Amino acid sequence: MKALRNAFGQFATGVCVVTATNSSGKAVGVTINSFSSVSLDPPLALWSIQNNSDMFEHWCNTERYAINILAADQAGLSGQCAKPGDHVLQEGQSAPSDNGVPLIQGAVATFEMKLVQVVPAGDHHILIGEITEYTNNEDVAPLVFHKGQYRALA
Ligand SMILES: Cc1cc2nc3c(=O)[nH]c(=O)nc-3n(C[C@H](O)[C@H](O)[C@H](O)COP(=O)(O)O)c2cc1C
Repeated sequence: MKALRNAFGQFATGVCVVTATNSSGKAVGVTINSFSSVSLDPPLALWSIQNNSDMFEHWCNTERYAINILAADQAGLSGQCAKPGDHVLQEGQSAPSDNGVPLIQGAVATFEMKLVQVVPAGDHHILIGEITEYTNNEDVAPLVFHKGQYRALA
């Protein structure tokens, strides 16, 4: 399994934090790199959640969430949101959108999502959402993840 994980890790990706509000009304975030664009019309994107995540039920049952593509200077936030626990974001790390969905401040791009399909797939579930709003900061460099390490574009 480690060998397959290492082979998957050859695929250089960006890093995202998926955000939403928990049952106590607090902004939470989880680090992922399984983000993929799916469709332009209708606008769809996906990510996958591991079945053994402590927050599995939360993410499979949260209708409104956001996928935030992290900037090169946000490796610390990525590490924070990859730790098991309550995943609650600190003051100033996110701000609510007009629709009340927390968005990561300083992200390269943000996609506000409405969950439309949950597809079981092995040890993960694929969450497909429709993009309802998005932002794009063209001039901000993205964080890159490759072979288990954070990198920046040359
Ligand atoms: C770069 C990176 C990418 C990750 N991608 C995913 C992912 O796509 N899906 C996922 O479920 N977990 C992913 N994780 C792991 C989660 O961030 C981590 O397992 C989770 O936050 C652990 O806490 P939990 O059990 O409370 O979910 C990734 C972690 C890192 C550092």
